[in-house]
Amino acid sequence: MPLDLSHMRSTLADHYDLTPSAKLAASMGHIYDRMDRVVSPPDWAIYAPYVKAINTLKKERNAVILGHNYMTPEIFHGISDFVGDSLQLAIKATEVDADVIVQCGVHFMAETSKILSPSKTVLMPDMDAGCSLAESITAEGVEDIRSRYPGAPVVSYVNTTAEVKAASDICCTSSNAAQIVAAQDSHTVIMTPDQYLAQNVARDVPQKKVVWWEGSCIVHEQYTAQDLRDFREWNPGTRLIAHPECPPDVVNEADFSGSTSGIIKYVTDEKPDKAMLITECSMASNIADSLPEVDFVGPCNMCPYMKKITLEKVLWSLHSMEGQVEVDAEVAKKARLSVQRMIDLSRQLGI
Ligand code: 13P
Ligand code: SF4
Repeated sequence: MPLDLSHMRSTLADHYDLTPSAKLAASMGHIYDRMDRVVSPPDWAIYAPYVKAINTLKKERNAVILGHNYMTPEIFHGISDFVGDSLQLAIKATEVDADVIVQCGVHFMAETSKILSPSKTVLMPDMDAGCSLAESITAEGVEDIRSRYPGAPVVSYVNTTAEVKAASDICCTSSNAAQIVAAQDSHTVIMTPDQYLAQNVARDVPQKKVVWWEGSCIVHEQYTAQDLRDFREWNPGTRLIAHPECPPDVVNEADFSGSTSGIIKYVTDEKPDKAMLITECSMASNIADSLPEVDFVGPCNMCPYMKKITLEKVLWSLHSMEGQVEVDAEVAKKARLSVQRMIDLSRQLGI
């Protein structure tokens, strides 16, 4: 059921003082310091009452907030207990000691947390926060491509539904995809659903024949290699850093490619004077304050699904306990095998 925004707002107004307050904002300067390069003081005065209410309620509910690297800075720095890429958040879901997980990310991430921690309540602040990759394939699709390559293992990106994970042999994320594919005991390996991640892996793992599903990410598929060449010409010396969901010619044109946490590590280690992150817009914003010496330049693309998560909806989910993610027990059991195999293999490979 879609969120009833007017009911949500009137109920929240009855329970919390959410009036913008410069005084409250000033008293929460230790949090604001982490984002003052990218969030203006008037905006912080609007966010501060929500951040305070969420952080108080979080303790009352014994909840933890897992925030993906694509969350906006007020969510990433203001309320998240743990931040990271898909692999790091999936692992964190197995480790946290809490009754409730609030997933600040998209639906497949919340499902992954529920699959790994079935006894915890997993809240999704907006059930409509989907993903074009997860929507591109079903369990029947997995069986269809499997039947075309008999005996080949199916490696599915975590950006998939629980049913697709259950129909797969093992999962991967952008931070371990090449190593997971390389470790398969078969010459042919099927990758679903991201054709571009698969093509980037195929280039890095030439000893395997990688075949793929034709899905793509609506954020990363928009970049072209010509965009990168034009940008380099216009702004010489800029380090171009691309997520592997970008088409291979874009990744080839970039100076570095990695998962969202790989990108953060690269920029933190290298500290280039100028960097263009060829990925979702919030990435640069979230690391801008910790890297004052780096000038983040150039265009970025927004993920409409990630941007569905707001402070207001997070507060509502914790207040109402609505938006609980459920996964059918049989599906969860099979899906857990695929995710756990990925986590175990990643640990074994030291990723
Ligand atoms: P990461 O695993 O690199 O965080 O990527 C998740 C995602 O959805 C990128 O679009
Ligand atoms: Fe899905 Fe792309 Fe959004 Fe990531 S950025 S959640 S892959 S649509």
